[in-house]
Amino acid sequence: MKYFLDSAKIGEIREAYDTFGIDGITTNPNHIMNSGKPFKTVLGELSDFVKEKGIEGWDVFPVSVEINPHLDDADEMVAMAKDISSICPNFVIKIPCTMSGITAARRLEKIGIRTNLTLVFSASQALIAAKNDSLFVSPFIGWKESSGEDCTQYIRDIVDIYSNYGFLGKTQIICAAVRTGKQFVDCAAAGADIVTAGLQVYKDSFYHPFTDYGLEKFQSAWDKTII
Ligand code: E4P
Repeated sequence: MKYFLDSAKIGEIREAYDTFGIDGITTNPNHIMNSGKPFKTVLGELSDFVKEKGIEGWDVFPVSVEINPHLDDADEMVAMAKDISSICPNFVIKIPCTMSGITAARRLEKIGIRTNLTLVFSASQALIAAKNDSLFVSPFIGWKESSGEDCTQYIRDIVDIYSNYGFLGKTQIICAAVRTGKQFVDCAAAGADIVTAGLQVYKDSFYHPFTDYGLEKFQSAWDKTII
């Protein structure tokens, strides 16, 4: 299972890349706003980052960038997607899973601009994303679980449906808005291709107090050992 970082902050991206070896990045308008920088400045930083690391290309290290969420016309969505994707070969265009979004995504995939269908909350939405050849589909886990819905079966259903119809791996499932280590494990057990989460979620899920306890114990034994 691949790990994507959900962030538009270049400092966090560097740390996650160097520490956890993340496989890609997902951004959204919220993350761009939280970076405190203008949209195009952030895109420039992301573009410079992949050049510096020698990981250019959406197939090597995909970076999802969302179009203006106010757009609800497929022509306008396609135009903005073309503009964004011309900036960097890593950019995958994030498009909301709406009627005009799916229309735009199909048109973009036909001309080789890869898409990520976002704001997906049902297996039937995920099926449509795959039928229209999106590279990624982003079912949001954290939002659903915070409203009391079960997500393990939800992801299993998407994996099963994709497997039944040969979509598995072709449209890759990004479990989005992951908040806990348990959700990482649930997504992996269900067979998701990718998880995306913030840096702190990776740090928290990596931490275990017994590792520190064990380290102290072994340090104390080491100090009493005759070398
Ligand atoms: C996924 O691609 C989204 O950017 C993301 O997970 C949105 O959710 P959040 O910002 O609430 O985590």
